[in-house]
Amino acid sequence: MKKIIIINGPNLNLLGKREPQIYGSQTFNEFFETIKASYPQIELEHFQSNIEGEIIDKLQEVGYSYYGIILNAAAYTHTSVGIGDTVAAIETAVVEVHISNTFEREEFRHQSYVAPYAKGVIVGFGLQSYELALQSFLSPL
Ligand code: DQA
Repeated sequence: MKKIIIINGPNLNLLGKREPQIYGSQTFNEFFETIKASYPQIELEHFQSNIEGEIIDKLQEVGYSYYGIILNAAAYTHTSVGIGDTVAAIETAVVEVHISNTFEREEFRHQSYVAPYAKGVIVGFGLQSYELALQSFLSPL
């Protein structure tokens, strides 16, 4: 079975209670259970950390054996040369996702250190961004 992991960065553990006007009112765990049930043909995992180095460790751990990585590095997207370097280094394809449309927000959110090394970027579709990323791995062009 294809192994795909969703890696979420800082503050995404607060989904559901964090700025719901931007990020919605569903918790990630609720969403994750639904999506997992909808795609039984995939071995889907989820990892979240608020710590940059733990995200790097996880990318290195899965990045040579898993079929796909869906990465929402959250605020680190805009600051972390380290996470960008890891995405460049690993072999597994990474799809970058964001819940909000980062391009309609502050200027500093327009920059991504991940995007140059990502297979693609999905931005602004709420939690559905994750599902679109998953679908991109299931039916590659
Ligand atoms: C985010 C967008 C980032 O700018 C922000 O720092 C986040 C969440 C998103 O999914 O919309 O924490 O990655």
